[in-house]
Amino acid sequence: MKFLIINGPNLNLLGSREPDIYGTGTYETLCRRVQDYAAAHGWEADCFQSNHEGVIIDTIQQAAGVYDGIVINPAAYTHYSYAIYDALRAVDVPAVEVHLSNIRQREPFRQISVTAPACRGQIVGHGFDGYLEALVLLAEGL
Ligand code: DQA
Repeated sequence: MKFLIINGPNLNLLGSREPDIYGTGTYETLCRRVQDYAAAHGWEADCFQSNHEGVIIDTIQQAAGVYDGIVINPAAYTHYSYAIYDALRAVDVPAVEVHLSNIRQREPFRQISVTAPACRGQIVGHGFDGYLEALVLLAEGL
């Protein structure tokens, strides 16, 4: 199985960005962990990160017919991007949304995800492990 991992804005700064909330692991460490975990299960995982909404939408559209599943952390776009919601609905590729932090226990604006309803599941507050759990959910066919 082949999976696409999409990380949204500011997640390239993992490690130095608010480490008390997001941890000290870097974006590169996250990608390596996800790819090693996928390889150990006989899967493939491509990691992609962008700070730009349109580029994320292009990437979701291009995933159709190429990937068996998408793991997406839309970062702040989670809370207001109907365009990413539409893109996830437009392609026939199952997606699971992941958040490093527990967005349900943070500021009120973070407690709303407009993108999650376009996903088969949502995992919050498990740090890097959440991405691995999302891979398992997708591989199990949810
Ligand atoms: C985040 C939570 C979002 O509210 C925030 O804007 C992020 C990261 C998370 O992984 O916890 O950038 O998606």
